[in-house]
Amino acid sequence: MNYAKKVVIVPGYGLAVAQAQHVIHELENILEAHGVEVKYAIHPVAGRMPGHMNVLLAESNVSYDKLVEMDDINPDFPNTDVVLVVGANDVVNPAAKTDPSSPIYGMPILDVENAKHIIVNKRSMNAGYAGIDNLLFYNPKNSMLFGDAKDVLTKLVHELKNM
Ligand code: TAP
Repeated sequence: MNYAKKVVIVPGYGLAVAQAQHVIHELENILEAHGVEVKYAIHPVAGRMPGHMNVLLAESNVSYDKLVEMDDINPDFPNTDVVLVVGANDVVNPAAKTDPSSPIYGMPILDVENAKHIIVNKRSMNAGYAGIDNLLFYNPKNSMLFGDAKDVLTKLVHELKNM
């Protein structure tokens, strides 16, 4: 991420559970100070209530113009160097587009697999709200970064400060 031109952060329910909204804003500030463009991709049903991610990120004073709605950010993923998915699962599950037998088939998703690299932070390979596996996790462009979002992001911030 430190050497990227453009990073998109995808927040999900796990970001709220971990209360990692302040540390993600710190990560964003450090990347921006290092010359990286950072945006947040907001899925309409990310989290557990309408506007959940907007409220959460507003708490940590993330600038409103950095929050980009799904339909506006989807065309940008091919030009994105790194997508950092934090505690999101269903809203980035490609089964919604490719698997007619999936319970989420037809739900619009964030097309993160079009980015050059993807990093998914969650604690395990466990399913999200819909209770289904996510093929994104097995995509060769994807790296799993396991751990509680607040712990993992705090360590990333520490590393970035030393670069
Ligand atoms: P989910 O698909 O529920 O995935 C959240 C992921 O966060 C989980 O897979 C979990 O994986 C991870 N997680 C939990 N605690 C964490 C922690 N402390 N640190 C890091 N990761 C953590 O979330 P989403 O992608 O935001 O999608 C929302 C889902 O909720 C959709 O299916 C949507 O339809 C549904 N829903 C939304 C709403 C509204 S209005 N927003 C209302 C009801 C239902 P691990 O356990 O492996 O960590």
